Amino acid sequence: MYQSYYGFTEMPFHITPDPKFLFLSATHQEALQHLKYGVAEKKGFIVLVGEVGCGKTTLCRRFLNELDPAHYDSALILNPRMTETQMLKAIVAELGETKLARSKSDLVAQVNELLLKKIHAGREIVLIIDEAQNLSFEVFEQVRLLSNLETDKQKLLQIILLGQPELKEKLAQEELRQLRQRILVHYELRMFSREETDHYIHHRLTLAGSMGRPHFTPWALRHLYKYSRGSPRIINNLCDKSLLSAFIRDSDEVTFWDARRASRDLERLTE
Ligand SMILES: Nc1ncnc2c1ncn2[C@@H]1O[C@H](COP(=O)(O)OP(=O)(O)O)[C@@H](O)[C@H]1O
Ligand SMILES: [Mg+2]
Repeated sequence: MYQSYYGFTEMPFHITPDPKFLFLSATHQEALQHLKYGVAEKKGFIVLVGEVGCGKTTLCRRFLNELDPAHYDSALILNPRMTETQMLKAIVAELGETKLARSKSDLVAQVNELLLKKIHAGREIVLIIDEAQNLSFEVFEQVRLLSNLETDKQKLLQIILLGQPELKEKLAQEELRQLRQRILVHYELRMFSREETDHYIHHRLTLAGSMGRPHFTPWALRHLYKYSRGSPRIINNLCDKSLLSAFIRDSDEVTFWDARRASRDLERLTE
């Protein structure tokens, strides 16, 4: 609705994890470096933890885009509420095979064979599991077994686990002791600071084609930070609603009152 009114080429605060919009705050930059380091140095398991909506999926999509396709193959598992067999099938499919084995043991053999074939052809493989806090212990164990593939010096499969803070608690449990001992790279994403929140909002407005219109007043920005506590997902939601409110007033300014109307709206929805 407000898109053409303000001259945006696309919606600035869409909630999809589009890596094009990635704003590299200090914490996102550090997280990206951890992923790159872990994969480049073949560290085996890499864990990235953060609250819902803090940018894990967006960041890992960016990371995947930056992997050199001449060297790397990747498998991205987005919804890991699955059985061991389903997980193995998903990995095989993500690695480009169309013929999937049926039984669990055949699938394990198929994955190992596929990985070895790629590795011998000089490829490097990255497996990313998003929302990994939802993995069952059995699937975690299966993933650990896959990671056993190694030469005497290096891990042959790099595995990135992304998850909400519960992932950390899960990994602390006795059942996952062996897997935990393999995690050599670990990073926790933080929310934006007040300053980063302002920059983030301007960053997205600019990428969406804003030519300085509309202007967010300092009081609006202050309220957006206070209410969102720097969570990108909540900022997006509030900014979208604030823009709509300013548009309805036929105004070039997003004011404190627009931001407050937005947060009230959100409260009503989450009550
Ligand atoms: N650093 C960032 N730069 C740009 N957009 C971000 C950033 N972090 C989060 N977002 C946006 O916030 C929303 C939630 O991000 P998402 O990656 O889905 O979070 P998570 O996977 O941690 O739950 C998405 O719209 C995403 O584009
Ligand atoms: Mg996500």
